Amino acid sequence: IPVDPFDLVIFGGTGDLARRKILPGLFRRYCAGQMPEEARIVGAARSALSSEDYRALVAESVREVSGGRACEDGTLDGFLARLDYVRIDARGSDGWEDLAALMRPEMVRAFYFSVGPGLFGDLAERIHLHGMASELARIVVEKPFGHDLASARELNATLAAHFDEGQIYRIDHYLGKETVQNLMAIRFGNMLFEPLWNSQYVDHIQITVAETVGVGGRGEYYDTAGAMRDMVQNHLMQLLCLIAMEPPAKFDPDAVRDEKLKVIRALDPVEPHHIVRGQYLAQDGEHPGYREAVNDPRSRTESYIALKTHVSNWRWAGTPFYLRTGKRLVARSSVINVMFKDAPHSIFGQEAGRHANVLSIRLQPNEGITLQVTIKEPGPGGMRLVDVPLDMTFAEALGPDGEDPPDAYERLIMDVIRGNQTLFMRGDEVEAAWAWTDPIIAGWQSRGEVPKPYDSGSTGPGDADLLMKRDHRAWRGIKP
Ligand code: BG6
Repeated sequence: IPVDPFDLVIFGGTGDLARRKILPGLFRRYCAGQMPEEARIVGAARSALSSEDYRALVAESVREVSGGRACEDGTLDGFLARLDYVRIDARGSDGWEDLAALMRPEMVRAFYFSVGPGLFGDLAERIHLHGMASELARIVVEKPFGHDLASARELNATLAAHFDEGQIYRIDHYLGKETVQNLMAIRFGNMLFEPLWNSQYVDHIQITVAETVGVGGRGEYYDTAGAMRDMVQNHLMQLLCLIAMEPPAKFDPDAVRDEKLKVIRALDPVEPHHIVRGQYLAQDGEHPGYREAVNDPRSRTESYIALKTHVSNWRWAGTPFYLRTGKRLVARSSVINVMFKDAPHSIFGQEAGRHANVLSIRLQPNEGITLQVTIKEPGPGGMRLVDVPLDMTFAEALGPDGEDPPDAYERLIMDVIRGNQTLFMRGDEVEAAWAWTDPIIAGWQSRGEVPKPYDSGSTGPGDADLLMKRDHRAWRGIKP
Protein backbone atom coordinates (compact mmCIF):
# COMPACT_ATOMS: atom_id res chain seq x y z
CA ILE A 1 0.00 0.00 0.00
CA PRO A 2 1.55 3.33 -0.99
CA VAL A 3 2.15 5.82 1.78
CA ASP A 4 0.86 9.38 1.58
CA PRO A 5 2.80 11.77 -0.66
CA PHE A 6 5.76 13.33 1.12
CA ASP A 7 8.77 15.58 0.92
CA LEU A 8 11.84 13.92 2.40
CA VAL A 9 14.98 15.97 2.96
CA ILE A 10 18.19 14.07 3.64
CA PHE A 11 20.79 16.25 5.32
CA GLY A 12 24.12 14.58 4.65
CA GLY A 13 22.55 13.44 1.38
CA THR A 14 25.93 12.70 -0.20
CA GLY A 15 27.28 10.88 2.86
CA ASP A 16 27.98 7.23 3.44
CA LEU A 17 24.75 6.29 5.23
CA ALA A 18 22.62 8.06 2.64
CA ARG A 19 24.38 6.32 -0.23
CA ARG A 20 24.65 2.87 1.34
CA LYS A 21 21.36 2.56 3.17
CA ILE A 22 18.83 5.36 2.91
CA LEU A 23 18.67 5.96 -0.85
CA PRO A 24 18.95 2.32 -1.98
CA GLY A 25 16.27 1.52 0.62
CA LEU A 26 13.98 4.20 -0.76
CA PHE A 27 14.60 2.85 -4.23
CA ARG A 28 13.45 -0.62 -3.16
CA ARG A 29 10.28 0.85 -1.66
CA TYR A 30 9.76 2.63 -4.97
CA CYS A 31 10.14 -0.68 -6.84
CA ALA A 32 7.68 -2.27 -4.44
CA GLY A 33 5.12 0.36 -5.45
CA GLN A 34 5.05 1.96 -2.04
CA MET A 35 6.08 5.40 -3.12
CA PRO A 36 3.31 7.61 -4.45
CA GLU A 37 3.75 9.62 -7.66
CA GLU A 38 4.06 12.92 -5.80
CA ALA A 39 6.77 11.80 -3.39
CA ARG A 40 9.92 13.90 -3.53
CA ILE A 41 13.36 13.37 -2.05
CA VAL A 42 15.77 16.25 -1.61
CA GLY A 43 19.43 15.63 -0.92
CA ALA A 44 21.02 18.46 1.04
CA ALA A 45 24.73 18.77 1.71
CA ARG A 46 27.71 21.07 1.56
CA SER A 47 29.05 20.10 -1.88
CA ALA A 48 28.28 22.24 -4.88
CA LEU A 49 26.26 19.81 -7.02
CA SER A 50 23.42 20.29 -9.45
CA SER A 51 20.33 18.11 -9.11
CA GLU A 52 21.56 16.38 -12.25
CA ASP A 53 24.92 15.57 -10.62
CA TYR A 54 23.13 14.32 -7.55
CA ARG A 55 20.93 11.97 -9.55
CA ALA A 56 24.03 10.53 -11.20
CA LEU A 57 25.64 10.00 -7.81
CA VAL A 58 22.55 8.31 -6.42
CA ALA A 59 22.18 6.13 -9.53
CA GLU A 60 25.71 4.89 -9.00
CA SER A 61 25.11 4.06 -5.32
CA VAL A 62 21.80 2.35 -5.99
CA ARG A 63 23.33 0.19 -8.74
CA GLU A 64 26.26 -0.69 -6.53
CA VAL A 65 24.12 -1.67 -3.54
CA SER A 66 21.27 -3.36 -5.39
CA GLY A 67 23.60 -5.25 -7.74
CA GLY A 68 21.68 -7.71 -9.92
CA ARG A 69 18.59 -7.07 -7.88
CA ALA A 70 18.00 -3.59 -9.26
CA CYS A 71 14.55 -3.61 -10.81
CA GLU A 72 13.88 -3.49 -14.54
CA ASP A 73 15.30 -0.90 -16.84
CA GLY A 74 13.65 2.44 -16.70
CA THR A 75 12.55 2.03 -13.11
CA LEU A 76 15.68 3.62 -11.80
CA ASP A 77 14.98 6.64 -14.00
CA GLY A 78 11.51 6.88 -12.53
CA PHE A 79 13.00 6.93 -9.06
CA LEU A 80 15.68 9.46 -9.96
CA ALA A 81 13.06 11.80 -11.37
CA ARG A 82 11.86 12.30 -7.79
CA LEU A 83 15.22 13.55 -6.58
CA ASP A 84 16.43 17.10 -6.14
CA TYR A 85 19.49 18.58 -4.56
CA VAL A 86 20.09 21.71 -2.52
CA ARG A 87 23.47 22.96 -1.43
CA ILE A 88 23.18 23.96 2.15
CA ASP A 89 25.27 25.47 4.91
CA ALA A 90 24.12 23.81 8.12
CA ARG A 91 25.64 26.49 10.31
CA GLY A 92 25.00 29.48 8.05
CA SER A 93 22.17 30.78 5.93
CA ASP A 94 23.09 29.58 2.44
CA GLY A 95 20.60 27.32 0.75
CA TRP A 96 17.86 27.47 3.38
CA GLU A 97 15.49 29.65 1.42
CA ASP A 98 15.93 27.40 -1.63
CA LEU A 99 15.05 24.40 0.48
CA ALA A 100 12.03 26.13 2.00
CA ALA A 101 10.81 27.00 -1.50
CA LEU A 102 10.79 23.31 -2.45
CA MET A 103 8.57 22.26 0.46
CA ARG A 104 4.95 21.75 -0.48
CA PRO A 105 2.23 22.79 1.95
CA GLU A 106 -0.10 20.27 3.54
CA MET A 107 2.21 17.40 2.86
CA VAL A 108 4.17 15.24 5.26
CA ARG A 109 7.72 16.50 5.36
CA ALA A 110 10.49 14.52 6.94
CA PHE A 111 13.99 15.78 7.65
CA TYR A 112 16.55 13.04 7.98
CA PHE A 113 19.61 14.17 9.98
CA SER A 114 22.19 11.86 8.47
CA VAL A 115 25.00 14.01 9.89
CA GLY A 116 27.10 14.11 13.04
CA PRO A 117 25.18 14.92 16.24
CA GLY A 118 27.13 18.18 16.50
CA LEU A 119 24.85 19.56 13.76
CA PHE A 120 21.47 18.39 15.08
CA GLY A 121 20.81 21.62 16.97
CA ASP A 122 21.82 23.84 14.04
CA LEU A 123 19.59 21.97 11.63
CA ALA A 124 16.59 21.91 13.97
CA GLU A 125 16.93 25.62 14.58
CA ARG A 126 17.17 26.52 10.91
CA ILE A 127 14.25 24.32 9.85
CA HIS A 128 12.25 26.25 12.38
CA LEU A 129 13.62 29.64 11.45
CA HIS A 130 12.83 29.17 7.77
CA GLY A 131 9.23 28.23 8.44
CA MET A 132 9.53 24.54 7.62
CA ALA A 133 8.61 23.16 11.04
CA SER A 134 4.92 22.75 10.24
CA GLU A 135 2.70 20.33 12.15
CA LEU A 136 3.32 17.77 9.45
CA ALA A 137 7.08 18.01 9.87
CA ARG A 138 9.13 15.29 11.53
CA ILE A 139 12.82 14.85 12.08
CA VAL A 140 14.78 11.64 12.00
CA VAL A 141 17.97 11.41 14.03
CA GLU A 142 20.67 8.80 13.90
CA LYS A 143 22.74 7.36 16.67
CA PRO A 144 24.93 8.06 18.51
CA PHE A 145 22.26 9.88 20.48
CA GLY A 146 24.65 11.43 22.94
CA HIS A 147 27.79 10.11 24.51
CA ASP A 148 26.45 9.84 28.04
CA LEU A 149 23.41 10.89 30.05
CA ALA A 150 24.38 14.56 30.22
CA SER A 151 24.93 14.93 26.48
CA ALA A 152 21.77 12.96 25.65
CA ARG A 153 19.76 15.26 27.92
CA GLU A 154 21.25 18.27 26.25
CA LEU A 155 20.45 16.88 22.81
CA ASN A 156 16.87 16.10 23.84
CA ALA A 157 16.49 19.63 25.17
CA THR A 158 17.91 21.15 21.97
CA LEU A 159 15.52 19.20 19.76
CA ALA A 160 12.60 19.83 22.12
CA ALA A 161 13.13 23.58 21.69
CA HIS A 162 11.96 23.21 18.08
CA PHE A 163 9.94 20.01 17.82
CA ASP A 164 7.43 18.06 19.89
CA GLU A 165 8.40 14.59 21.04
CA GLY A 166 5.78 13.25 18.60
CA GLN A 167 7.80 14.73 15.73
CA ILE A 168 11.17 13.29 16.76
CA TYR A 169 12.14 9.88 15.36
CA ARG A 170 15.29 8.48 17.01
CA ILE A 171 16.47 5.59 14.89
CA ASP A 172 17.81 2.36 16.29
CA HIS A 173 18.00 0.28 13.14
CA TYR A 174 17.82 -2.97 15.13
CA LEU A 175 14.17 -2.19 15.79
CA GLY A 176 13.57 -2.25 12.05
CA LYS A 177 14.91 -5.78 11.63
CA GLU A 178 12.34 -8.36 10.64
CA THR A 179 13.03 -10.79 13.48
CA VAL A 180 13.07 -8.11 16.11
CA GLN A 181 9.49 -7.32 15.28
CA ASN A 182 8.77 -10.99 15.10
CA LEU A 183 9.88 -11.21 18.67
CA MET A 184 6.82 -9.21 19.64
CA ALA A 185 4.61 -11.30 17.36
CA ILE A 186 5.91 -14.51 18.90
CA ARG A 187 5.53 -13.33 22.46
CA PHE A 188 2.22 -11.57 22.20
CA GLY A 189 0.55 -13.36 19.29
CA ASN A 190 0.83 -16.88 20.75
CA MET A 191 -0.52 -18.45 23.89
CA LEU A 192 2.31 -20.94 23.98
CA PHE A 193 5.24 -18.92 25.27
CA GLU A 194 3.93 -16.20 27.53
CA PRO A 195 2.93 -18.43 30.48
CA LEU A 196 6.49 -19.76 30.60
CA TRP A 197 8.14 -16.39 30.05
CA ASN A 198 9.38 -15.74 33.59
CA SER A 199 11.94 -16.73 36.15
CA GLN A 200 9.98 -19.77 37.22
CA TYR A 201 10.64 -21.45 33.88
CA VAL A 202 13.48 -19.50 32.28
CA ASP A 203 16.92 -20.27 33.67
CA HIS A 204 18.68 -17.43 31.89
CA ILE A 205 18.78 -15.45 28.67
CA GLN A 206 21.69 -14.95 26.30
CA ILE A 207 21.85 -12.15 23.78
CA THR A 208 24.74 -12.35 21.33
CA VAL A 209 25.52 -9.90 18.53
CA ALA A 210 28.72 -11.13 16.92
CA GLU A 211 30.30 -9.38 13.97
CA THR A 212 33.16 -10.42 11.71
CA VAL A 213 33.95 -6.88 10.62
CA GLY A 214 36.46 -4.73 12.46
CA VAL A 215 36.20 -1.00 13.07
CA GLY A 216 37.20 -0.36 9.46
CA GLY A 217 37.38 3.29 8.53
CA ARG A 218 35.34 4.36 11.57
CA GLY A 219 38.24 4.21 14.01
CA GLU A 220 38.08 7.84 15.01
CA TYR A 221 34.45 7.63 16.14
CA TYR A 222 34.68 4.10 17.46
CA ASP A 223 37.63 4.73 19.72
CA THR A 224 35.61 7.35 21.61
CA ALA A 225 32.67 4.96 21.90
CA GLY A 226 33.64 1.31 22.25
CA ALA A 227 31.28 -1.64 22.19
CA MET A 228 29.39 -0.45 25.26
CA ARG A 229 28.30 2.84 23.74
CA ASP A 230 28.22 1.65 20.14
CA MET A 231 26.16 -1.52 20.61
CA VAL A 232 25.09 -2.30 24.18
CA GLN A 233 23.53 1.04 25.14
CA ASN A 234 21.24 0.88 22.12
CA HIS A 235 20.93 -2.30 20.03
CA LEU A 236 21.42 -4.92 22.75
CA MET A 237 19.42 -2.88 25.21
CA GLN A 238 16.50 -2.76 22.78
CA LEU A 239 16.63 -6.52 22.31
CA LEU A 240 16.70 -7.02 26.05
CA CYS A 241 13.68 -4.75 26.43
CA LEU A 242 11.63 -6.63 23.88
CA ILE A 243 12.44 -9.94 25.56
CA ALA A 244 11.83 -8.74 29.10
CA MET A 245 8.96 -6.26 28.81
CA GLU A 246 5.44 -6.83 30.05
CA PRO A 247 2.74 -7.18 27.39
CA PRO A 248 1.67 -3.68 26.38
CA ALA A 249 -2.09 -3.12 26.29
CA LYS A 250 -1.91 -2.29 22.59
CA PHE A 251 0.62 -2.24 19.81
CA ASP A 252 0.78 1.50 20.01
CA PRO A 253 3.91 3.66 20.23
CA ASP A 254 3.59 4.90 23.77
CA ALA A 255 2.16 1.68 25.16
CA VAL A 256 5.17 -0.23 23.81
CA ARG A 257 7.71 2.37 24.83
CA ASP A 258 6.30 2.72 28.34
CA GLU A 259 6.88 -0.99 28.87
CA LYS A 260 10.42 -0.87 27.47
CA LEU A 261 11.24 2.07 29.71
CA LYS A 262 10.14 0.10 32.78
CA VAL A 263 12.57 -2.66 31.86
CA ILE A 264 15.51 -0.28 31.52
CA ARG A 265 14.67 1.31 34.84
CA ALA A 266 14.53 -2.12 36.47
CA LEU A 267 18.01 -3.12 35.30
CA ASP A 268 20.48 -3.77 38.09
CA PRO A 269 23.79 -1.93 38.05
CA VAL A 270 26.45 -4.28 36.72
CA GLU A 271 29.07 -5.55 39.16
CA PRO A 272 32.63 -4.96 37.93
CA HIS A 273 33.37 -8.70 38.04
CA HIS A 274 30.35 -9.36 35.82
CA ILE A 275 31.87 -7.53 32.85
CA VAL A 276 34.53 -8.72 30.43
CA ARG A 277 36.00 -6.29 27.94
CA GLY A 278 38.18 -7.28 25.02
CA GLN A 279 40.16 -5.85 22.16
CA TYR A 280 40.93 -7.79 18.97
CA LEU A 281 44.43 -8.61 17.83
CA ALA A 282 45.78 -8.55 14.29
CA GLN A 283 45.23 -11.61 12.09
CA ASP A 284 47.90 -13.19 9.88
CA GLY A 285 49.35 -9.82 9.02
CA GLU A 286 46.26 -9.49 6.84
CA HIS A 287 43.90 -7.61 9.10
CA PRO A 288 45.19 -4.97 11.51
CA GLY A 289 44.53 -5.31 15.21
CA TYR A 290 42.22 -2.91 17.02
CA ARG A 291 44.93 -0.55 18.25
CA GLU A 292 46.42 -0.31 14.81
CA ALA A 293 43.00 0.28 13.25
CA VAL A 294 42.31 3.22 15.55
CA ASN A 295 45.87 4.42 15.34
CA ASP A 296 46.48 4.45 19.08
CA PRO A 297 48.91 1.87 20.44
CA ARG A 298 47.64 2.46 23.97
CA SER A 299 43.91 2.58 23.33
CA ARG A 300 41.83 1.17 26.19
CA THR A 301 38.58 1.11 24.25
CA GLU A 302 36.80 -2.23 24.05
CA SER A 303 35.78 -3.86 20.78
CA TYR A 304 34.15 -6.70 22.71
CA ILE A 305 32.02 -6.80 25.79
CA ALA A 306 30.24 -9.51 27.74
CA LEU A 307 28.23 -8.81 30.85
CA LYS A 308 25.66 -10.19 33.22
CA THR A 309 22.74 -8.18 34.51
CA HIS A 310 19.35 -8.70 36.12
CA VAL A 311 15.95 -7.18 35.55
CA SER A 312 14.80 -6.61 39.09
CA ASN A 313 11.06 -7.15 38.99
CA TRP A 314 8.56 -9.88 39.81
CA ARG A 315 8.76 -11.56 36.44
CA TRP A 316 12.53 -11.81 36.20
CA ALA A 317 13.97 -11.89 39.73
CA GLY A 318 16.57 -14.65 39.70
CA THR A 319 16.94 -14.97 35.89
CA PRO A 320 20.23 -13.48 34.72
CA PHE A 321 20.56 -11.83 31.33
CA TYR A 322 23.95 -12.36 29.67
CA LEU A 323 24.83 -9.96 26.87
CA ARG A 324 27.80 -10.08 24.56
CA THR A 325 28.88 -8.34 21.40
CA GLY A 326 32.14 -7.90 19.59
CA LYS A 327 33.93 -7.18 16.37
CA ARG A 328 36.24 -9.47 14.36
CA LEU A 329 34.66 -12.59 15.85
CA VAL A 330 34.41 -16.01 14.27
CA ALA A 331 31.08 -15.43 12.53
CA ARG A 332 28.41 -12.85 11.93
CA SER A 333 25.61 -14.06 14.08
CA SER A 334 22.99 -12.27 16.13
CA VAL A 335 20.84 -14.51 18.23
CA ILE A 336 18.80 -14.44 21.41
CA ASN A 337 18.63 -17.69 23.34
CA VAL A 338 15.94 -18.15 25.93
CA MET A 339 17.28 -21.02 28.03
CA PHE A 340 14.55 -22.84 29.90
CA LYS A 341 15.11 -24.72 33.15
CA ASP A 342 15.59 -28.46 33.34
CA ALA A 343 12.52 -30.55 33.99
CA PRO A 344 12.13 -30.66 37.79
CA HIS A 345 12.55 -34.43 37.98
CA SER A 346 13.81 -36.91 35.46
CA ILE A 347 11.76 -40.07 35.26
CA PHE A 348 14.44 -41.47 32.94
CA GLY A 349 17.20 -41.52 35.53
CA GLN A 350 20.63 -39.93 35.74
CA GLU A 351 21.97 -41.66 32.64
CA ALA A 352 19.42 -39.87 30.43
CA GLY A 353 21.50 -36.75 31.05
CA ARG A 354 20.31 -33.19 31.41
CA HIS A 355 18.01 -31.73 28.82
CA ALA A 356 16.44 -28.34 28.65
CA ASN A 357 14.43 -26.47 26.08
CA VAL A 358 16.01 -23.56 24.30
CA LEU A 359 14.15 -21.02 22.19
CA SER A 360 16.62 -19.43 19.76
CA ILE A 361 15.60 -16.32 17.94
CA ARG A 362 18.01 -15.66 15.06
CA LEU A 363 18.22 -12.09 13.88
CA GLN A 364 20.87 -12.56 11.24
CA PRO A 365 21.89 -14.19 9.08
CA ASN A 366 19.29 -16.80 8.18
CA GLU A 367 16.49 -15.26 10.22
CA GLY A 368 14.27 -17.67 12.05
CA ILE A 369 13.34 -19.41 15.22
CA THR A 370 14.36 -22.76 16.61
CA LEU A 371 12.87 -24.50 19.59
CA GLN A 372 15.07 -27.22 20.99
CA VAL A 373 13.01 -30.09 22.37
CA THR A 374 13.92 -33.42 23.88
CA ILE A 375 12.68 -36.59 22.24
CA LYS A 376 13.42 -40.29 22.33
CA GLU A 377 16.29 -41.29 20.11
CA PRO A 378 14.70 -43.22 17.25
CA GLY A 379 15.38 -46.95 17.02
CA PRO A 380 15.36 -49.97 19.26
CA GLY A 381 18.03 -48.72 21.70
CA GLY A 382 15.61 -48.19 24.59
CA MET A 383 14.65 -44.89 26.18
CA ARG A 384 17.59 -42.78 25.15
CA LEU A 385 16.96 -39.05 24.95
CA VAL A 386 18.23 -36.59 22.37
CA ASP A 387 17.67 -32.91 21.75
CA VAL A 388 16.37 -31.95 18.33
CA PRO A 389 15.49 -28.58 16.85
CA LEU A 390 12.01 -27.64 15.76
CA ASP A 391 13.15 -25.21 13.16
CA MET A 392 11.41 -22.41 11.40
CA THR A 393 13.50 -20.48 8.96
CA PHE A 394 11.38 -17.55 7.94
CA ALA A 395 12.48 -17.58 4.32
CA GLU A 396 11.37 -21.21 3.97
CA ALA A 397 8.20 -20.81 5.98
CA LEU A 398 7.07 -17.96 3.78
CA GLY A 399 7.72 -19.97 0.62
CA PRO A 400 9.88 -19.40 -2.44
CA ASP A 401 7.61 -16.61 -3.67
CA GLY A 402 7.93 -14.73 -0.41
CA GLU A 403 9.34 -11.28 -1.14
CA ASP A 404 12.57 -10.30 0.55
CA PRO A 405 11.51 -8.49 3.68
CA PRO A 406 12.36 -4.80 3.53
CA ASP A 407 15.63 -3.98 5.20
CA ALA A 408 15.59 -2.16 8.52
CA TYR A 409 16.07 1.32 7.08
CA GLU A 410 13.38 0.94 4.44
CA ARG A 411 10.84 -0.09 6.98
CA LEU A 412 11.76 2.64 9.43
CA ILE A 413 11.69 5.43 6.86
CA MET A 414 8.24 4.34 5.72
CA ASP A 415 7.13 4.36 9.37
CA VAL A 416 8.35 7.96 9.63
CA ILE A 417 6.20 8.92 6.66
CA ARG A 418 3.22 7.07 8.13
CA GLY A 419 3.82 8.82 11.44
CA ASN A 420 4.26 5.63 13.44
CA GLN A 421 6.78 5.94 16.28
CA THR A 422 6.46 2.43 17.70
CA LEU A 423 9.86 1.34 16.43
CA PHE A 424 11.67 4.53 17.45
CA MET A 425 13.22 5.39 20.77
CA ARG A 426 11.58 7.94 22.96
CA GLY A 427 13.73 10.57 24.65
CA ASP A 428 13.22 9.20 28.16
CA GLU A 429 14.14 5.70 26.98
CA VAL A 430 17.46 6.88 25.61
CA GLU A 431 18.20 8.78 28.78
CA ALA A 432 17.35 5.79 30.96
CA ALA A 433 19.68 3.62 28.89
CA TRP A 434 22.52 6.09 29.41
CA ALA A 435 21.74 6.31 33.12
CA TRP A 436 22.39 2.56 33.32
CA THR A 437 25.48 2.66 31.09
CA ASP A 438 27.28 5.68 32.55
CA PRO A 439 28.30 4.21 35.94
CA ILE A 440 29.55 1.03 34.27
CA ILE A 441 31.86 3.01 32.00
CA ALA A 442 32.88 5.38 34.80
CA GLY A 443 33.76 2.33 36.90
CA TRP A 444 36.23 0.83 34.50
CA GLN A 445 37.66 4.22 33.66
CA SER A 446 38.34 5.01 37.31
CA ARG A 447 39.91 1.61 37.82
CA GLY A 448 42.04 2.18 34.72
CA GLU A 449 40.99 -1.17 33.25
CA VAL A 450 42.63 -2.40 30.08
CA PRO A 451 40.57 -4.68 27.82
CA LYS A 452 41.73 -8.28 27.35
CA PRO A 453 43.27 -9.01 23.97
CA TYR A 454 41.51 -11.68 21.88
CA ASP A 455 42.32 -13.31 18.57
CA SER A 456 40.51 -12.11 15.49
CA GLY A 457 38.29 -14.88 14.24
CA SER A 458 37.76 -16.27 17.76
CA THR A 459 34.72 -16.16 20.05
CA GLY A 460 36.26 -13.38 22.15
CA PRO A 461 38.35 -13.37 25.33
CA GLY A 462 38.40 -16.56 27.40
CA ASP A 463 37.23 -14.61 30.45
CA ALA A 464 33.79 -14.32 28.86
CA ASP A 465 33.52 -18.11 29.08
CA LEU A 466 34.58 -17.96 32.71
CA LEU A 467 31.83 -15.45 33.41
CA MET A 468 29.39 -18.20 32.44
CA LYS A 469 31.32 -21.06 33.92
CA ARG A 470 31.30 -19.49 37.36
CA ASP A 471 27.50 -19.71 37.17
CA HIS A 472 27.67 -23.33 35.88
CA ARG A 473 26.47 -22.21 32.49
CA ALA A 474 27.95 -21.88 28.99
CA TRP A 475 27.43 -19.66 25.98
CA ARG A 476 25.69 -21.26 23.02
CA GLY A 477 28.17 -21.39 20.14
CA ILE A 478 28.49 -18.53 17.67
CA LYS A 479 27.45 -20.13 14.39
CA PRO A 480 27.16 -18.47 11.04
C1 BG6 B 1 25.90 0.10 14.11
C2 BG6 B 1 27.21 0.16 14.81
O1 BG6 B 1 24.93 0.82 14.82
O2 BG6 B 1 25.48 -1.25 13.98
C3 BG6 B 1 28.25 -0.64 14.06
O3 BG6 B 1 27.63 1.51 14.93
C4 BG6 B 1 27.77 -2.05 13.83
O4 BG6 B 1 29.49 -0.64 14.75
C5 BG6 B 1 26.38 -2.06 13.22
O5 BG6 B 1 28.68 -2.70 12.96
C6 BG6 B 1 25.79 -3.45 13.15
O6 BG6 B 1 24.61 -3.44 12.40
P1 BG6 B 1 24.13 -4.74 11.61
O7 BG6 B 1 22.79 -4.35 11.07
O8 BG6 B 1 25.15 -5.01 10.56
O9 BG6 B 1 24.07 -5.85 12.62
